[in-house]
Amino acid sequence: PAPLKVAVAGCGVVGGGLLSRLLPDSRFEVVAVLVRDPKKKRDVAAPADLFTNDVDAVLAKKPDLLLEALSEGEAGHALIRRALEAGCDVVSANKQAVARDPKGLQALADANGCRVAWSASVGGGSPMIETLRAARAAGPVAGFEAVLNGTVNFMLERLGAGATFGDALADARAAGFAEEDPSSDLEGFDAAAKVKLLSFEAFGRSPDDLPRDVLAAETPLGEAPVRQIGACFDRDGGLDASVRLDGELEDALFLSLNGERNALKVYGQDGRVWTCKGRGAGRWATTESVLADVADVMRARRAAAELV
Ligand code: NDP
Ligand code: HSE
Repeated sequence: PAPLKVAVAGCGVVGGGLLSRLLPDSRFEVVAVLVRDPKKKRDVAAPADLFTNDVDAVLAKKPDLLLEALSEGEAGHALIRRALEAGCDVVSANKQAVARDPKGLQALADANGCRVAWSASVGGGSPMIETLRAARAAGPVAGFEAVLNGTVNFMLERLGAGATFGDALADARAAGFAEEDPSSDLEGFDAAAKVKLLSFEAFGRSPDDLPRDVLAAETPLGEAPVRQIGACFDRDGGLDASVRLDGELEDALFLSLNGERNALKVYGQDGRVWTCKGRGAGRWATTESVLADVADVMRARRAAAELV
């Protein structure tokens, strides 16, 4: 079969990982790479003529699949919509883009006969969306709790071991865990977007807004381990959601996490519990998660082609 024509949006931690996997793979033809600065020096060896900052030029290449890993929510959301409108399948890692309107993006994909997937946008390499879907398929969900931000988990561990706030943040950035603007991690916006996406899977809708605790240099941290917990529960039809810093945890799953690891616990209305944990951030964990969605999209494309 002819190689799949793929456009990659973003060439940072995630986009660079994707390119280094796609470029040597004969199943794919990378047709364009969208960035802000096409002249910037990159840590991936890709032909210079692939790089552009022009969305129209990317779509003019008529990609079959867009892999969206931009660091800006609004630009990512607009790009995903344009790609779907053009009949292009989309896989996104950008939670701030897809959490804006997951239902609308899914409807747009359906209306245009294409697929959209965003597993990597929640939990990085841990299968959180898949776990919630499995729980949801087994019966109604009462709610979920999760450690959703690798940067904050990594920093809390370092701070607990005596690191300064500045050093802990610098290490999280150097490891590729933090957002381009790390206030998104520290002020809970990143975890809040992930709560919205998990809530969409659990309940078919997302909370509009949710209270967030902020991790700052002056945040008091006691002796006990602290975790940032994102949660959402159905309370008589209303959604009770939050992102909080919890220093009184007794849950072994959350207490066992180290580094950038994430974990999820889903509670069924019948008392059953589903869990998963894994690497929540970083180039390779996220690249693998995006590629798992790509494999699903390719299977769906093949199945659709066989029906014709
Ligand atoms: P980086 O900051 O490393 O890279 C972002 C890339 O997006 C850069 O190449 C930048 O271009 C490009 N970009 C941003 N805005 C625009 C725009 N308006 N037009 C064109 N290009 C743009 O981010 P990451 O790779 O770390 O993250 C990418 C996405 O994946 C984010 O949404 C993040 O939340 C998500 N994610 C990240 C994970 C991680 O561990 N890092 C894990 C899971 C999800 P340029 O290089 O020219 O500046
Ligand atoms: N900045 C995010 C985190 C990346 O630290 O969890 C993964 O979504």
